[in-house]
Amino acid sequence: MKALSTSAAPGAASAAGPGRATLGGHVLDQLVRLAPVAELKDADTIAYGQVLMESLSDTAHRPLSLPPASPSFISDDHTPVEFSLAFTRDADPHLRVLVEPGCAVGDVAGSGRVGLAAIREMAARWDFSTAQLDAVEDLFFPADPQGPLALWYALELRPGGVPGVKVYLNPSAAGPGNAARTVREALRRLGHPHAFDVLPAGAGYPFIALDLGDWATPRVKVYVKHPRMSADDAATVSRTTPGLAEDQVTTFFQLAAGTVPLPGRRAEERQRLLRRPALTCHAFTDGKATSPSGFTLHIPVRDYVRDDSEALARATALLRHFGIGASALRRALSALTPRKLTDGVGLIAYLALAHEQHRQPRVTAYLSSEAYAVRPPLTLPLREAVSLP
Ligand code: TRP
Repeated sequence: MKALSTSAAPGAASAAGPGRATLGGHVLDQLVRLAPVAELKDADTIAYGQVLMESLSDTAHRPLSLPPASPSFISDDHTPVEFSLAFTRDADPHLRVLVEPGCAVGDVAGSGRVGLAAIREMAARWDFSTAQLDAVEDLFFPADPQGPLALWYALELRPGGVPGVKVYLNPSAAGPGNAARTVREALRRLGHPHAFDVLPAGAGYPFIALDLGDWATPRVKVYVKHPRMSADDAATVSRTTPGLAEDQVTTFFQLAAGTVPLPGRRAEERQRLLRRPALTCHAFTDGKATSPSGFTLHIPVRDYVRDDSEALARATALLRHFGIGASALRRALSALTPRKLTDGVGLIAYLALAHEQHRQPRVTAYLSSEAYAVRPPLTLPLREAVSLP
């Protein structure tokens, strides 16, 4: 592990003295400490750490005492890296990392070029095709792209040193007014001509994602934003995907968002997420199918809890509901930071429930790196005014 360790303990890097800790050191330290939670071997961790450092390029050496090189939308404090742990019953959790490879570049167009080059390098290294990405490149990389992102990638850090690769693109690259058209055209080119018509109504499409490389069933995924969502709305949206247990979606929503069902008429009306919106994600694998093969509900738990101890309690309750223990998540949180969970909010950014055809449901916790800032605890979560009958 010597080749990778940048400091002995989390926080040690910043203790090295003002201006000494770097972004690369910080995230590498976190990766090394998270790896055992997902049973990753040292050789794999070293290889993945190198990939991560290459993507951060110059920003890897950038001191944390300087502001972030660009205002990455990956995380609230603009760290261009986010970890996640995906849990299924009776299996080790999977560790993933989301990265903005163009984070060193100040403008969206430049960031996109660097991002594309990073994906093509990975394709050469791990011998996978970028045909899906090439087919839609002109849609997502116009001459004068709009933000807040050009290209992100996520790696599923699998044992053996070859990760699963996912690429995230911005449907509003040619302006929010063109996002729907861009999504429809991208789905058509990727072999899903009917997919757009089965997407639920929402307030926009923040991301589209492509599985590249070695996946059992590569997916195209479309994310939809849902302001003021209720548990019942989530269940309704989940019906776009056949064969999934709708009551699990409702229960997940209530456990993650903390909305306890209230008695009385229009009870569901009283429990809407009024801060950051929930997202749903719709996966398409079979071009001939008339419905999506997968559905994910993402709850931005960090806006609906006081602090991270409350977020952990929510995560623990819902993991337990799905028959999964919470000890790996607790270990992951202490691998990321030595701070007390009650001292901030946002270490757990999102909680998500994913249903894919013929698979066990998966619960994912998105975990912030907090390289630059810890968000202070919130005052009481905002709820729509409740007037009992
Ligand atoms: N930070 C952004 C957000 O909160 C994007 C993002 C990062 C995201 N990780 C995510 C969105 C996980 C959904 C799920 O929206």
